[in-house]
Amino acid sequence: MRVFDTHAHYDSGAFNADRMEVLASMPEQGVDLILNPGCDLETSRTAVELAEQFPFVYAAVGVHPSDCGEWTDQWLEQLRSLVAHPKVRAIGEIGLDYYWKDNPPRPLQQTVFRRQMELAQDLGLPVIIHDREAHQDCLSIVRDYPQVRGVYHCYSGSLEDAKVLVKLGWMLSFTGVITYKNARKALEVIDWLPMDRIMIETDSPYLTPEPFRGKRNDSGKVHLVAETIARVKGVQADEVARITLENGKRFFQI
Ligand code: NI
Repeated sequence: MRVFDTHAHYDSGAFNADRMEVLASMPEQGVDLILNPGCDLETSRTAVELAEQFPFVYAAVGVHPSDCGEWTDQWLEQLRSLVAHPKVRAIGEIGLDYYWKDNPPRPLQQTVFRRQMELAQDLGLPVIIHDREAHQDCLSIVRDYPQVRGVYHCYSGSLEDAKVLVKLGWMLSFTGVITYKNARKALEVIDWLPMDRIMIETDSPYLTPEPFRGKRNDSGKVHLVAETIARVKGVQADEVARITLENGKRFFQI
């Protein structure tokens, strides 16, 4: 099985001891491609550096809603200069996160999200969306930028919203969360979702799939996400791996 892990954070401190070895081992573990999104300016820079060092790693640059507290519009210029690198293929991850109480205030999160949607529109790049407990506001901002296409990473919304997003031409991506016992809602979405709209990801080092839940995640475990989708859809896991790899290549223009 050859797979594309469309969302993994190898810039994370969780990989400080063995980052290069872990990444170097990915081709022999069946991982053909990895997309590393940034969460702030520093991790966006690191994502680009990793993409320079490994031919199978690509980058996205952006400011995550949890990390937007110090935002100034000057950050847009820094993101713009990072985007000039040929291996940067998206703006992300960006969006809204109303889950954590100490996150930046909602109006600021919304402004920063809008600025980066405008940047994506300007540059003709897709976006990677983080939406946690903010489904309604997130979708309403997405609707305000009809020229921008994107992916909802670790999709946690309803089937109704999924239908709206598919109609808008968007993709949905799934993590190891779908292997957990309480994943009923996401499995319903997957059951309905057309195969050409699905991408798979680990969100490494987080969201480790069963049976490894609790350990550090890495792209070598993304096949477990493909296997769960295959069971829901009643198809072979190889088929899910192949189609999601093609979907990811098309989406990120690789
Ligand atoms: Ni992430």
